Amino acid sequence: MKKIRVGVIGLGGRATSHCKAIQSNNLRLVAVADPQEHLCAKFKNDYAIDKSYNSHLELIKDNEIDAVVITLGHQLHHKLTIDCCNAGKHVLVEKPMALSLEQCDEMILAAQSNNVKLQVGLSQRYYGTSIKAKEILDSNEIGPIVSALCFMNKNWGSNADDYSNRRPQYRSRYHGGGMWLTNGVHVVDRLSWVIGSQASSVSASVGNKSRYQAADDYGSAFIRYKNGVTGHAQAIGYLNGAFNGECYVIGTKGSLRFAQHPEKFVKLGKNEEWADIAFDDPPNEAHNEWLYFNESITKDLEPSTHGDWGKHIMEILFAAEQSSITSKEVFLNNYSNYFAQASGEIVSGNFSWI
Ligand SMILES: NC(=O)c1ccc[n+]([C@@H]2O[C@H](COP(=O)([O-])OP(=O)(O)OC[C@H]3O[C@@H](n4cnc5c(N)ncnc54)[C@H](O)[C@@H]3O)[C@@H](O)[C@H]2O)c1
Repeated sequence: MKKIRVGVIGLGGRATSHCKAIQSNNLRLVAVADPQEHLCAKFKNDYAIDKSYNSHLELIKDNEIDAVVITLGHQLHHKLTIDCCNAGKHVLVEKPMALSLEQCDEMILAAQSNNVKLQVGLSQRYYGTSIKAKEILDSNEIGPIVSALCFMNKNWGSNADDYSNRRPQYRSRYHGGGMWLTNGVHVVDRLSWVIGSQASSVSASVGNKSRYQAADDYGSAFIRYKNGVTGHAQAIGYLNGAFNGECYVIGTKGSLRFAQHPEKFVKLGKNEEWADIAFDDPPNEAHNEWLYFNESITKDLEPSTHGDWGKHIMEILFAAEQSSITSKEVFLNNYSNYFAQASGEIVSGNFSWI
């Protein structure tokens, strides 16, 4: 299969995962971009990259680059995605997709009108554990789903000092921050993906319990789906505790639990016992995300976490915020319509489409 040539935009903590995965897929890492020169020098050295640029505006002029990953502040996802699409680059943009549904629409339109792929970095569904769990659900092993619960609860800075080291995109809602948009986005994506439907309404509580800051530190939502299944999504950033993140799915003839952290497992519940199920474990956590992004470009398929899907996840997250403010169930605008994938093509990966 043809291999795409990649540029990485934004060299913060997450960029390392992307560089590892680009290289474990044998894709060519052509250039990086960041205004901080010491970061460019470090990444060039660590990953044997030839070129670096001071900003995305310079990088997107590089004709050697087919695709970019945008891995920086949430408030910048919208503008940079549009710039990159307009320069003819395929885009993998980190989560959360953007700060409003209008921004999501503009990003989707920019990809469509430039005939490039847009994939949203809803990375946790690409874990080996998640893919195995989805295979089991799709095989009808546990029967129709009755309900599901997904959560990701973690220590998010135990005191004011270490929390203040977090970037604005994590601690300021104005910059798209808070636990709900940062990690709730993964939980809502995996919940909706395993339930295999689009949400119709949300009742939620989103707010602060652990610290005084300009964004939430917990979110907990009850979500109704169009296929009649209900689910619960929870993301909490506390001051002290022990990490737990898991999906628990209850079917009519079996149960399924799967997690990646702190322990990787897929467990099938039958006859009052939990059996461990084997799964493929890729060389690094973002490996499959790049495997399928590359496949979507080279085979001209819709990315499995395409722009419309990324937008729908944002719609659920924003509805949860609204529900929390009004103390009412919020009905989503798409209630009477099923949206279609933009291309009508089968998505990349054979495990993940709805
Ligand atoms: N999917 C996951 O599991 C996962 C995990 C961690 C972070 N993330 C996401 O990754 C993204 C990046 O997070 P982070 O913590 O690595 O960010 P960060 O703030 O640490 O780094 C961002 C970098 O972008 C650079 N930058 C700013 N403007 C730029 C421009 N115009 N061109 C090039 N570079 C520019 C900054 O100098 C900085 O080095 C966020 O969206 C975050 O939510 C995803």
